[in-house]
Amino acid sequence: VAESRSRISVIGTGYLGATHAACMAELGFEVLGLDLDRSKIDSLSAGRAPFYEPGLEEVLQRNLANGRLRFTSDYDEAAAFADVHFLCVGTPQRDDSDAADLSFVEAAVDSLAARLTGPAIIIGKSTVPVGTAGRLTKRIAECAPPGAEVHLGWSPEFLREGFGVEDTLRPNRIVIGTDSPAVESAMRELCAPQIEQGIPFLVTDLPTAELVKVSANAFLATKISFINAMAEVSEAAGADVMKLAEALSHDDRIGGKFLGPGLGFGGGCLPKDIRAFMARADELGVEPALSFLREVDAINQRRRARTVDIARGLIGGSFAGRTVGVLGAAFKPNSDDIRDSPALHVATAIAELGGVVTVYDPEALDRAKQEFPDLRYAHTMLEAVRDAEVVLLLTEWAEFRDADPDELAKVAAQPRIVDGRNALDPQHWRDCGWTYRALGRP
Ligand code: UGA
Repeated sequence: VAESRSRISVIGTGYLGATHAACMAELGFEVLGLDLDRSKIDSLSAGRAPFYEPGLEEVLQRNLANGRLRFTSDYDEAAAFADVHFLCVGTPQRDDSDAADLSFVEAAVDSLAARLTGPAIIIGKSTVPVGTAGRLTKRIAECAPPGAEVHLGWSPEFLREGFGVEDTLRPNRIVIGTDSPAVESAMRELCAPQIEQGIPFLVTDLPTAELVKVSANAFLATKISFINAMAEVSEAAGADVMKLAEALSHDDRIGGKFLGPGLGFGGGCLPKDIRAFMARADELGVEPALSFLREVDAINQRRRARTVDIARGLIGGSFAGRTVGVLGAAFKPNSDDIRDSPALHVATAIAELGGVVTVYDPEALDRAKQEFPDLRYAHTMLEAVRDAEVVLLLTEWAEFRDADPDELAKVAAQPRIVDGRNALDPQHWRDCGWTYRALGRP
């Protein structure tokens, strides 16, 4: 690692920033992570990830111990520490519209730029509406003190929760949007370990880099909703969408990934990103270009409603006073993230219809309890299934996939299950006496 580029700061230590900071230290850089949330800084400094992410704590602890990684809440310290700063703050959906809330990005840029004293490079990684980096360039020029020449680049992040460490150390591509040769050469130095492994490194202009991220997520969301639309048709036609998806996947132009039919997508990225993307297209005067994403969103929401309907049908048409066991709260397995979780959406919908719902999840219970204190929670799978008149599998954790249907049948009031993720073998469960229903298959 070249001496000049041995140090970086990472602004924002959520899923993206904490993982990025730890992995850059793992690659040999000296890293200072910054967050204004003291509790995050305390936890990270003690080697504890403030969220569940397999493998992250080992990387954190190793690099805290070898001195390459530190955390702070002090912008002065971050500005003085490095001349390359990565922006990893969140861009949630605004409360009053579908657009992205850029206030954290703007505040971070203002705070940092005002404290810079010499030439510096800021590389945005947060997911932003196309055009944001261009606006920030002007903002930085206004905030930065005279003499501090600041260059901005945008390098979107494609990591998946649950695979954050792996995806950061070995991304499938690196994209850097910039007009500045200084930014490009800094990125080439910082990404040298990955470029050496043959990972594609693409240099684009700023808007293209911003667009790569949201269009990738829009494509993934579309692929999921496509197969879920086929699930709707399969239900009406008596076809099996799992067999259909398998047959489609052998065409390598289509491919099998993100073609898993079920309850659909949730989380902190796909749902809000497609909405913010539509809102941005509207502002740019090209609203029709993305109007199909409205349908992608609608298909996704319909799967949640359909899951509730199937369960209601199984217990004779009404949830009022009926005992319901829910397996899963996280938006996907290997995560404790419950943002826009399809599982909790379904669980709360059933509770609103009068069902007595008990939820179990291997990792997301604490978060779920905080956000949905009115649901009941169990600390084991068996406890959630006990006395249930219907069970719903809503997040496909391995623990649920591997569950023994005989064992669960002994504690359930009625052996009825809705497999919202097509995670179980229908024949096996039926052979064990369960009434098995799934999305998109007979
Ligand atoms: C997503 C993208 O996959 C990442 O590339 C991107 O970097 C990230 O958003 C981001 O913008 O930060 P993530 O939200 O971690 O990553 O989750 P995914 O693995 O994409 O899953 C999203 C949702 O789709 C989950 O609720 C999952 O259950 C659902 N899904 C996924 C399906 O319903 N079917 C599938 O076949 C695949």
